[in-house]
Amino acid sequence: MCGIVGYIGTQAATEILLSGLEKLEYRGYDSAGIATVWEGEVNCVRAKGKLHNLRSKLEPVATPAQIGIGHTRWATHGKPEEHNAHPHMDMAMRVAVVQNGIIENYRDLREELKQKGHQFISETDTEVIPHLIAELLKTSSSSSLLEAVRQAVNHLEGAFALAVISADYPDELIAVRQQAPLVIGFGQGEFFCASDTPAIVSHTRAVLSLENGEIARLTPLGVEIYNFAGDRLRKQPRMLNLNPTMVEKQGFKHFMLKEIYEQPGVVRASLEAYFNSDRSSIDTPSPVNLGLPPKLYSDLEQIHIVACGTSWHAALVGKYLIEQLAGISTQVHYASEYRYAPSPLTPNTLIIGVTQSGETADTLAALVMEKERRQDKEPQYQARLLGITNRPESSLGRMVPDMINTLAGIEIGVAATKTFVAQLMAFYALALDLAYLRQTAAKETLEKIINDLHQIPQKMETTLASQESLTEHLAHEFADTQDFIFLGRGINYPIALEGALKLKEISYIHAEGYPAGEMKHGPIALLDAKVPVVAIAVPGNVYEKVLSNSQEAKARDSRLIGVTPVKDGEAAEIFNDLLPVSDVDELLSPILTVVPLQLLAYHIAARRGLDVDQPRNLAKSVTVE
Ligand code: G6P
Repeated sequence: MCGIVGYIGTQAATEILLSGLEKLEYRGYDSAGIATVWEGEVNCVRAKGKLHNLRSKLEPVATPAQIGIGHTRWATHGKPEEHNAHPHMDMAMRVAVVQNGIIENYRDLREELKQKGHQFISETDTEVIPHLIAELLKTSSSSSLLEAVRQAVNHLEGAFALAVISADYPDELIAVRQQAPLVIGFGQGEFFCASDTPAIVSHTRAVLSLENGEIARLTPLGVEIYNFAGDRLRKQPRMLNLNPTMVEKQGFKHFMLKEIYEQPGVVRASLEAYFNSDRSSIDTPSPVNLGLPPKLYSDLEQIHIVACGTSWHAALVGKYLIEQLAGISTQVHYASEYRYAPSPLTPNTLIIGVTQSGETADTLAALVMEKERRQDKEPQYQARLLGITNRPESSLGRMVPDMINTLAGIEIGVAATKTFVAQLMAFYALALDLAYLRQTAAKETLEKIINDLHQIPQKMETTLASQESLTEHLAHEFADTQDFIFLGRGINYPIALEGALKLKEISYIHAEGYPAGEMKHGPIALLDAKVPVVAIAVPGNVYEKVLSNSQEAKARDSRLIGVTPVKDGEAAEIFNDLLPVSDVDELLSPILTVVPLQLLAYHIAARRGLDVDQPRNLAKSVTVE
């Protein structure tokens, strides 16, 4: 949450900072601002709302400064008003700071600084930082900006990433990482820092991710890295494998729509990466190739999965697959709950953290908690941690020893779509791998599932092609609807939750996802002709049950929309409207049934004229608790 960017080099900084911030807007867009150093002064321009407001404000006043920092904000402390926008400055307006994170002890620091005569103009936690740095520059032994920032960060508690410039040190940009992501980019005579790589990839592919407790000093001559104690560290950048065109819309009206259409490709890439290409000989230990060490799987008795948001929904599908195919008891937890109320310790337990960004603070904290509480225990209680992420270079990637990399490519739309499908693919591979190794299902059954999985990309393309106009048509009818109910059962219950979440996130329509059989225990009281019900009904275990539950909704005058395979005559009679998917086995159906729900949410939001890619109050990467 919040994006920060910094530049020092030989080009005009303003445009580089603005284009960097554009790529970081997914992290928050309540306000934006940049500060540069020019002719001995800090020039700071800030604007409430999205980046284009800042752009218009900057046009007449931009300087040719070659050093600067920028920020795009997701408000935590203080309303999204201009006076709370970053960069923040000290009273003499000599030091400017941008921050991503939360300074937990800012109240105490503020009081101390007030007693020394400092006056504050914002309600933010960040504003104490430039004041503290200015105070240290004035009073202590710190003889450089680096030293003052180093001393200042040793007073700060919380999780944060910072970039700092000063009018008195025009050739120096200081960047700090403490539990919030920050990468340094190395160009030719120019250097960058940013919360995430897309902000700098059009300038350089040579990057270095700072570790917690590290400070970087960027000058036009190079980058020096220190720890918080002031010791110099030797580190080398690595080359990024990220194509700048991956972060363009490529003719689609919104990133979200483009990303929905990329899903068949994501499934293909996952099949190629996770499954052995020679599927005729299934006699190898497993046809799945996740590259995980055997010790992760041995004697496994329990699995706990921690995640947030859409990743939590993917984890619920994962639980279904692991329990049904591999017979391992699996629990799925909201990371924000689990970190403060973990399950009792069990031996031989695999802990899986699922996070597309690899930066979600609660998910990381839940994993750390699990690791710490197990470290002094007997060997069978030791933490076995597995990460599932779309960003292997993220904080999660650096924290867990083993990972399944999801292969969605960079996702820009704040509402997750293709990364969800990529997470489902990771869980299919994991569950099948476990089932093979533990011999919990007949080889033929598993073989059939893998063969059927290989049919999914083409079925998804057919589903996408048939859905576009149907969902657009329904969106027209439902653009002013106030409440929606989504029903599913079994493996499609998480898809009902995901359908409701997508609609809430981008269209601001109230929606609830419910297990179809539970509807009669409460939500049925909400139903009338004004509340449409979307039911996911796929032939299999619970098909007839879902159809009966749907009839119960219809009897209360709800308009019924069915997400169901094309050929089903019975369903066609029950539902008022159909969003048909290609014929598919129930076990694999979530990868297809989620598609019409994503499109429905997209088209309703687009018809309501909303900002689909950057819905209000949300951020893609939630790096605060
Ligand atoms: C935010 C995003 C959601 C996402 C959730 C978890 O709330 O808006 O789309 O599902 O974070 O993100 P993660 O990166 O951990 O999967």
